Amino acid sequence: MTDSPVLVTCGLPYTNGPCHIGHLRTYVPADFYVRFLRHCGENVVFVCGSDNHGTPVVISSEAEGISPREMCERYHAHFDETFRKMGVLFDRFGMTDDPANHKKTKEIVTSLIDNGYIYEKTISQSYCPQCKMFLPDRYVEGLCPHCGEKARGDECDQGCGKHLEPGEILEPVCRICGGNAELRDQDHFFFKLGEFSHFLKDFLPNLKGTLNARNYAQGWINEGLHDWCITRTLDWGVKFPGRDDLVVYVWVDAPIGYMAFTEEWAGETGGDWEEFWKGNAPITHFIGQDIIYHHCIFWPALLKGAGYSTPDSVVASGMVKIDDKKFSKSRGYVVWTNEDYLDLGLSPDYLRYYLLSYTSHTKELNFSWSEYQARVNNELVDTLGNFIYRTVHFTSKKLGGIPQIDADEEILEEIKKRSELSEASVRDYEFKAAIDEIMALASYGNGYIQSNAPWKMIKEDREGAEKVIRNCLQIVKALALLFDSVIPEKAQKIWEQLGYGDSVSDHPVSEGTEGFGDTVLGEPSILFEKIEEDRLSEYESTLKMRVEEAKKKENRNIKENYMISIDEFTKVEMKTARIIEAEKIEGSDKLLKIRVDLGDEKRQIVSGIAKFYNPEEILGTDVIVVTNLKPAKLFGVESQGMILAAGEEASLLVPKRNVVPGTKVL
Ligand code: 2FM
Ligand code: ZN
Repeated sequence: MTDSPVLVTCGLPYTNGPCHIGHLRTYVPADFYVRFLRHCGENVVFVCGSDNHGTPVVISSEAEGISPREMCERYHAHFDETFRKMGVLFDRFGMTDDPANHKKTKEIVTSLIDNGYIYEKTISQSYCPQCKMFLPDRYVEGLCPHCGEKARGDECDQGCGKHLEPGEILEPVCRICGGNAELRDQDHFFFKLGEFSHFLKDFLPNLKGTLNARNYAQGWINEGLHDWCITRTLDWGVKFPGRDDLVVYVWVDAPIGYMAFTEEWAGETGGDWEEFWKGNAPITHFIGQDIIYHHCIFWPALLKGAGYSTPDSVVASGMVKIDDKKFSKSRGYVVWTNEDYLDLGLSPDYLRYYLLSYTSHTKELNFSWSEYQARVNNELVDTLGNFIYRTVHFTSKKLGGIPQIDADEEILEEIKKRSELSEASVRDYEFKAAIDEIMALASYGNGYIQSNAPWKMIKEDREGAEKVIRNCLQIVKALALLFDSVIPEKAQKIWEQLGYGDSVSDHPVSEGTEGFGDTVLGEPSILFEKIEEDRLSEYESTLKMRVEEAKKKENRNIKENYMISIDEFTKVEMKTARIIEAEKIEGSDKLLKIRVDLGDEKRQIVSGIAKFYNPEEILGTDVIVVTNLKPAKLFGVESQGMILAAGEEASLLVPKRNVVPGTKVL
């Protein structure tokens, strides 16, 4: 056990919607890492909390007609409970809207002001003339100025992923009314991020964690850093010191939450938060790949500017796909942690195992129910579960207890080797590789019991069979200790089957090579059950239905977007008109140049009906004309309106009864 503590944090989930598999992609590996380090004797403090401010929360609470605080409390409780159910256990799970974080944020922003890193500047930012408000962050949508993809106000979420400053988005549209936004001047406060380029150039090569984080961040530094606007015109958030009309940007107070929550943890436990944030005890941030910029550039600069310690490591997880499609809540490619998983009685450990063992931490993780089934059935049930059950069951039924002999050196060596390799991989953030090592020990055990067949051996050689089983039990013990970080619920049960009455998480991995003393074996039971075909089809069809529902919804939205109000319709002016002249336009086989009588005026209209009517046959016909279209030139001939016709063959729309030319169509 080392005394020098380490702090591990996890990106804070916004409290604007339920937990999904995309969240778990970061939290489960972080929890695994913390548990594993603890099993190796490290003193780890693990903090997280919910991200309560910013437009994501304000917009969602407005949509639900509740206050932002109410929304935050609802989802804070939801995440807290869901994480516990998934075995993700924090030492502190705080809220960024709690007083500790308001206080800490004000302190840090004041230090930045005092240290000369904040200045005021007038900027043009999106304003909606209809809603009569400035449009911060997610209130505005448009096109990314860097890659041209659809983007939201502060982030190119569908394209290049870049952070966007207020006013940068192109073709801004108000999210509330859908109207075009305009740019208006407003005073805001900026953080001199550009002044930290040198600091960051030195800091980043020493930043530990996964390579993706460091490499992305170094690329951005090379592109040049721009100062950050750190205030927003919102009521909800941490007030900017001395300004009641402005709050700080959510990306200022959210990471400060890491510090506030450590302080809260210290307050509860008598721990020391300053050794991390003002001293040298290392801080490791687990985050999703989409927020590397905030954690590797903005956050260290903010800490440096305010005089605090900077992170030691940033570990960034790759993104999630569902059935090989990009994860998307709106398109239905999502697995909700509760609704689609835990509420169905599925084991949190199975999902933890899938998330951890599917691929390397920095790669894209694809979730599919069939792959899930294959891994559970082949690896957890057939390899791990089978080996443990055969060993414990045989010991209990045929030997009546743990043989009082030592395990073979060869077996202890195998356990040591796998334990060391898995620990090295965990320390390299190669979680899949670590789990592969642990599972390799289970396969080794399976192969060992199968080839030695103690159920046959016992008939002639009881001692030999006892030796084999004693070796197998040693492997089972090591597996319980090693797998505890991956599948804690099941590992505890394995531990209990071995006859231990305490918690497996209190024991170091190194005990995997130690004996059993006078432990009395517990009752064997089957710990892992297969996912059957009929259940698999149920899960798959839920996902399919969700995708179909989302498609229908999108089609409805598209239709609604094309609908016009009665006000818009009445803007179109239509009148009856009598055709008084018609002739072909030279060079065109489609167009006729037509003169119409509108009662009080005559107009020239170019109409695409030449293929279906001879000029002579339409003379004297009363038709319907759109009279307030802007004039346009077709084939060099000016058209001052449009004659209405229906269908492919341009059947002219005519009044059923006689009306005088120029009668309004209502
Ligand atoms: O991207 C997000 O979901 C943010 N809520 C993460 C915040 S992490 C931190 F910096 F607080
Ligand atoms: Zn972009």
